[in-house]
Amino acid sequence: MCGIVGYIGDKKAYPILIKGLSRLEYRGYDSAGIALLENGTNLNVYKRQGKVIDLTEFVDGHSTEGTVGIGHTRWATHGLPNDVNAHPHCSGDGSIALVHNGIIENYDILKKELIKRGHEFKSETDTEVLVHLIEDIKEKSGVSLVEAVRIALNEVHGAYAIVVVSTEDPDKIIAAKKSSPLVIGMGEDEYYLASDATPIVEYTKNVVYLEDEQIAIIDRKNGLRIISISNKEISPYVQELEMQLEELEKGGYEHFMLKEIYEQPRAIHDSFRGRLDAKSGRVSLGGIKDYEEQIAKADRIIIIACGTSWHAALVAEYYFEDLARIPVEVEYASEFRYRNPIINKNDVVIAISQSGETADTLAALKMAKEQGATLLGIVNVVGSTISRVTDAGSYTHAGPEIGVASTKAFTTQLVVLALMALAIGKRKGTIADKKFQLLLDELESLPEKIEELLKSDDYIRGVAEIYKDAQNALYLGRGTSYPIALEGALKLKEISYIHAEGYPAAEMKHGPIALIDENMPVFVVAAHGEHYEKVVSNIQEVKARKGKIIGIVSKGDTAVKDIADHIIEIPKSDEFIVPILATIPLQLISYHIAVMRGCNVDQPRNLAKSVTVE
Ligand code: G6P
Repeated sequence: MCGIVGYIGDKKAYPILIKGLSRLEYRGYDSAGIALLENGTNLNVYKRQGKVIDLTEFVDGHSTEGTVGIGHTRWATHGLPNDVNAHPHCSGDGSIALVHNGIIENYDILKKELIKRGHEFKSETDTEVLVHLIEDIKEKSGVSLVEAVRIALNEVHGAYAIVVVSTEDPDKIIAAKKSSPLVIGMGEDEYYLASDATPIVEYTKNVVYLEDEQIAIIDRKNGLRIISISNKEISPYVQELEMQLEELEKGGYEHFMLKEIYEQPRAIHDSFRGRLDAKSGRVSLGGIKDYEEQIAKADRIIIIACGTSWHAALVAEYYFEDLARIPVEVEYASEFRYRNPIINKNDVVIAISQSGETADTLAALKMAKEQGATLLGIVNVVGSTISRVTDAGSYTHAGPEIGVASTKAFTTQLVVLALMALAIGKRKGTIADKKFQLLLDELESLPEKIEELLKSDDYIRGVAEIYKDAQNALYLGRGTSYPIALEGALKLKEISYIHAEGYPAAEMKHGPIALIDENMPVFVVAAHGEHYEKVVSNIQEVKARKGKIIGIVSKGDTAVKDIADHIIEIPKSDEFIVPILATIPLQLISYHIAVMRGCNVDQPRNLAKSVTVE
């Protein structure tokens, strides 16, 4: 987490850095700071606890001159979010400023050593150690700043994306990365640096993604040079961005989250465009074409993910096991990687990740690779690290997701996973032709069905109004709807701070039923399908204990309607498609409740969108 930016060129750096930080705020927003090189001699550093807007208020009235600068928006790991711990951090003599995303794991040993050598530290951060280390190496060995950075990076363990400026080398910016992302935008005699491409896209579409253990040296006159931390020259590989600027703006919506909920018909259409043709009964995912045979023959599929993406993995377990008859294990990346798991060469490991940067998912993938598994990625952010380390994969094509709570990324993940399971099931002959065709038709009709569903938004807001003051909430579902219960609960807790739990409906009687009283709203996904009658019985059990039932039901439902306090209808569809449709009213419920409670929907407290720490 944390977002970092940098600029060197002939424009004023300050507005570019501030705008860039605002775009990266989803990565962390507890404090922010910038360093500007004014006239190449003064290093003006401004930093503040709070959001980027608080930083701009603080800077108001101070000098914002300079055409070289760096910036940072923080999600605290080491040290409280306060003014002192905010980045940039400076060397003791104030000549070097550095911003950092990641964690320097051996910072404690290095810090003790540096203190012995006379360095004084101001903050509690691991980052400050790095800038003192660079200063120390420079003083001790009399080497250039670039060389000092290179030597220092050989001494640190952990993850870093850094950008460094110095008054001694005012026409240079130095950047480096390992495990945390960094992109360089190549303009006309100007360069932009950022944790992802969103701050860059409005200036240039030409970018270089820095690879692990590479150092970029950007010189105002000589342009970009890349070396490895072992000092080998590397030729930069320039790529073109596909992202559009409009995708990064709110487009008239009050919040990014609402915009992204409403974008789902389009996003889902994009996720199957060119891949699904129901009329001719065809599914084809270009990105995994060469691996289809291998997936079909796999002994096992292991899906690794975190957060909302993990919920998509749980739905995929039903898809792959039922449609393609391949055993599936779903794992939290953070647990899997520390468990010494058994991974075989015939296993296919699928990582699901919106950002493509989640540290635990990435580390789990690397471990699986070492053990010879085939790696696939289902990723939203084009060019992200996971998309590059996997053998093959499919992008979800949801477009940039800015709201911290994931919405369209989740439903498009489900679509891509369904397509993948269908393609493999068809190849293996494990899915009946009739079912195959039905699911293709249903997937193709999703955008239209979601448009229809979104028309109930006013009604859903009315339901939200009734439950906005709840202290707790329970979410229940069975089969493919169980992960949707988990996702519904996660959405509510992360943006409205109401305690919520998702449970398999049948498991309720083994514990959560004790919590039910007349104050407990219970959201039940009870669409028509194999489990319908059983879920209706579970609803009766809740009702008998005076719980309040909000049923997510198929259009025309009568049984749940008769017992529930409220129902929200979703279009009739097959059980495999229900998770995608049922998610949408739950997203809207959480959104409206959070707005009514005055919460910051797009930037909920303590969270970040891209979790690049372990
Ligand atoms: C964070 C985000 C979640 C996301 C999770 C996994 O916790 O706030 O919305 O689901 O990370 O992220 P990924 O990018 O790997 O899907």
